[in-house]
Amino acid sequence: MNIFDQLVIPASSNHILLIKYMLTISLILFIPYIGMLLGGMFISTYFNKKGKREGNSLYTRFAEDVINKLTISGNAKFGLGVIPAISIFLAYAQLLYTAKTISLSMIALAMVLFFLSLSFIYKYKDIFKLERMLSQINYTGSIGKYLLLTAVYIFAGAMALASSPDNWNSVNNIMQLIFSWQSMFNFLTLLCISGLVSGSAIIFFFFKWDGGLKDMTDDYSELVRRFAGNLAIISGILFPLMILLSYVYLPYSALSPLLFYYTVAVMLVSIILGSFISSILKSSGVGSATMFFAMIIIMISLNIFKDQQAFATAIDLNTVIITELADKLEKESQSKVTQSSGIDAEAIFTQKCSACHKFDQKVVGPPYDLTVPKYKGDVQKLAEYILNPQKIDPAYPPMPVQGLKKKEATAMAQWLIDKAGKK
Ligand code: HEC
Repeated sequence: MNIFDQLVIPASSNHILLIKYMLTISLILFIPYIGMLLGGMFISTYFNKKGKREGNSLYTRFAEDVINKLTISGNAKFGLGVIPAISIFLAYAQLLYTAKTISLSMIALAMVLFFLSLSFIYKYKDIFKLERMLSQINYTGSIGKYLLLTAVYIFAGAMALASSPDNWNSVNNIMQLIFSWQSMFNFLTLLCISGLVSGSAIIFFFFKWDGGLKDMTDDYSELVRRFAGNLAIISGILFPLMILLSYVYLPYSALSPLLFYYTVAVMLVSIILGSFISSILKSSGVGSATMFFAMIIIMISLNIFKDQQAFATAIDLNTVIITELADKLEKESQSKVTQSSGIDAEAIFTQKCSACHKFDQKVVGPPYDLTVPKYKGDVQKLAEYILNPQKIDPAYPPMPVQGLKKKEATAMAQWLIDKAGKK
């Protein structure tokens, strides 16, 4: 049993569909955002150090601009980070309800680490703003950066595990999750995404957004373009490779035609992107920065569709279990409604049945404890018998019709089912 199961009510099939949409949308916000944060943190701390060591103010400025632009604004951390993170966790809690896997608790852990890292990252950003040269910068920056990296790693592993029910039994602690090659693989894919978003976001925010950064010298804009362009190229080459390789670790149960179509779409977009990147590296190309950034987000979204498709196919069986549970709960709550329909079954029993029936003893009729369990909880069938008794047991005389109303018979049947055979 999963400790989070108590949080969740099994969802009906309509709800499951809704939850899947919610999950996909949250991931489309969340993954580019953490990719950008992670990239931004590593680039910024790297250039900050380098700038100080070499006494080069271009690097220090780049470190500051990157963290300012890539964390967008303080509010973005809620809209793109915190809220999607919570929704993702809740969606997985619903979809993995009753599933015996540590995947969900690992997602929870990743989210906690992520929230922690956010507070350090935004502090790092503030410190930069206040006092450029404080030595604290490296310290909060490094903590934030490594916390986020750990969060992303565990998140990648938990997502990969969720999509492979074949491994649910064998991977049952955090060490096994960390050292599984599926986790490493999914993590590398997220790193490529991080490189792609960060690279394209830098070009977009530095050169296009709001008219681009003011007072950029030629040296500086050359540095920015070269660095961001190269980052985008390298991750842009590795990313489709990772996607192709991911077919190696996807379990057979996750494969479906739709998955294949999404993969083809991702590949096509990445080829188109290739042509953008080369034009951006030539100085003239920043004109298409918006388009470039948008295409990358589209490609990442397509990849999320693809992963979610694989996940949905893989957990098909679990979904069936959940919806059946939901149906059962629905029926139970309906029968509670009849129970509370204002009919007093116990009173009817005393007036009309107790002359011939007891629960644990034979009177004129057989004991309920023996006969009622035969109906296995089927209220309708028992109610029909009470309304219109048939000859059943040769050891007894036939039961006379009791003249109950249909509603009364149903309430009576429910009451008997709830009481009989349970000591
Ligand atoms: C006059 C006596 C009498 C009264 C009153 C009576 N019953 Fe019965 N009941 C019987 C007899 C006799 C049987 C056994 C019939 C058979 O096996 O064919 C029986 C059988 C049953 C059974 C078992 C059916 C089965 O599948 O084996 C149920 C349940 C039951 N009665 C419910 C009720 C309820 C509820 C009432 C009151 C609304 C009621 N009875 C009133 C005589 C009575």
